[in-house]
Amino acid sequence: MNSRLTSSPAWKNLLKHQEELSRISLTDVILNDPQRLENCELILKGLRLVFAFHRVTSKTIDLLSQLATQEGLEQWRTRLFRGDKINTSEQRAALHTALRQTSDQPVLLDGRDIIQDVKQVRQRMRVFIDDLTEGRWRGATGKPIRHVINIGIGGSDLGPRLAARALTAHAVRSAPLFVANLDAFDIVSALKNIDPAETLFVIVSKTFTTLETRRNAETARQWLVDRLGPKAIEHHFIAVTANQNEGQAFGIPPCNMFPMWEWVGGRFSLWSAVGLSAAITLGMDNFEKMCDGAATMDQHFLSAPLQKNMPVILALLDIWNRNLCHINAHAVLPYSERLRDLPRYLQQLEMESNGKSTTRDGMPTDYATAPLIFGESGTVGQHSFYQWLHQGYDIVASDFIGVKEDDLNHPGHHRPLLANMLAQAGALAFGHVATATTSAPYAGGRPSNLIILERLDPFNFGMLLALYEHKVFVQSVIWGINCFDQPGVELGKSMAVSLESASTPTNRKDAFFKRFLDLPLGVTTNRNTSLKLPCNNVI
Ligand code: F6P
Repeated sequence: MNSRLTSSPAWKNLLKHQEELSRISLTDVILNDPQRLENCELILKGLRLVFAFHRVTSKTIDLLSQLATQEGLEQWRTRLFRGDKINTSEQRAALHTALRQTSDQPVLLDGRDIIQDVKQVRQRMRVFIDDLTEGRWRGATGKPIRHVINIGIGGSDLGPRLAARALTAHAVRSAPLFVANLDAFDIVSALKNIDPAETLFVIVSKTFTTLETRRNAETARQWLVDRLGPKAIEHHFIAVTANQNEGQAFGIPPCNMFPMWEWVGGRFSLWSAVGLSAAITLGMDNFEKMCDGAATMDQHFLSAPLQKNMPVILALLDIWNRNLCHINAHAVLPYSERLRDLPRYLQQLEMESNGKSTTRDGMPTDYATAPLIFGESGTVGQHSFYQWLHQGYDIVASDFIGVKEDDLNHPGHHRPLLANMLAQAGALAFGHVATATTSAPYAGGRPSNLIILERLDPFNFGMLLALYEHKVFVQSVIWGINCFDQPGVELGKSMAVSLESASTPTNRKDAFFKRFLDLPLGVTTNRNTSLKLPCNNVI
């Protein structure tokens, strides 16, 4: 058991402070400070973080910063940006920051300046997207490409899917379709009613071995070949991968491949060619603005003092809630339908990264790590699970994410949307005081962040995602875990392969599950094998 952290001076000071603060209501913590908003707000260009609705005072922030310093956050931050192999289990660097670096300052990895590689790939993306947009890249029959289908899963899906939707207002062509699920419904729905001669498949897989992506890509390839013949593949398939051999074996020529690098983790990879489908939709200029936004957050993270550092503060507040106040879940509540996919993206980013209870050196932790992340776009969520947020037995922390500018020019929607967001944060914090005419009181005391974007543009969006990336990293440093691997997921993947392929199970565990895999359908089941789907893009 690793109790180094929990027996450290900074941790003990926090425990004592939490004990004192727990006697004061959240309402009083907030209202006792006349400068509360000024003290609990950080602004970086078009992004504002308000953390007034937490049970914290300036002393809490001091003590949390001491914890971060004690755990060597500044040194770890340098190691991250410098390209040290801090993903120790896989002996890899985690250099997503190099993907968006704006200067030519070399970043050397095993003696090679990877900034030059990044620039080259960006340039290739630009040429390819221009060719596609201006009709120089055509399908096998000479028709220009109208439909783009991204096939990938996890980090090879969630980032580009989120970006393409979030930045719809900046799109230069219609949105791509995204296929991720192994359930054939996903690919079958995407292929319904589209012309293969006008369709481009972008197969995104760092490993090119992920079962879901392979199977969906194979189904797409068969569909294309049946209609246009095998020669059509080179006109209709692009791969983004770190495994060029597998991509080639699949039938995609090297000139149709964009590299991914081992030094980028899947869930941190939107800024690489993994974002190709989003870049096709948004245009390369907007894609680069998104990267610039992320680079601005990188510089802020690198240089701002800990107490004024947005990702650091966001992370420390979560540590406070999770470890000192024992809050087990965190809701992500974007008040923007275009950010609807943010909760799912953050589920992978936070839970795949920090969903580990062993430290880097393999010791079990005696403290909690990543909370459950879930969410839904506001106001839709208000009419499903918010009652539980307000008065459920468990206390949950929330991030409210709102956009100030009404770019659709619908004040009749936008003002009440923002009013609802603020009202929810207030109600969660302050609860309900009974009056002669209203129902029973309840306590409130539920913390939240307000994250407000001036407008939903590529730059601010890039800052927002990088904010969360660095928050996850800071937490991993304090919890002493490697946030860049995913051994549990890898085990599940390999078990599924061995279970599916072994006709005769070779071990007791496989035999146990195999019974269910091969269970015959009931005699009354209607075995309609040709699924009829109503129309394309039904989802
Ligand atoms: O979910 C596990 C995982 O390895 C993720 O980390 C990754 O984003 C996803 O699978 C897809 O992997 P690949 O890009 O190799 O297909």
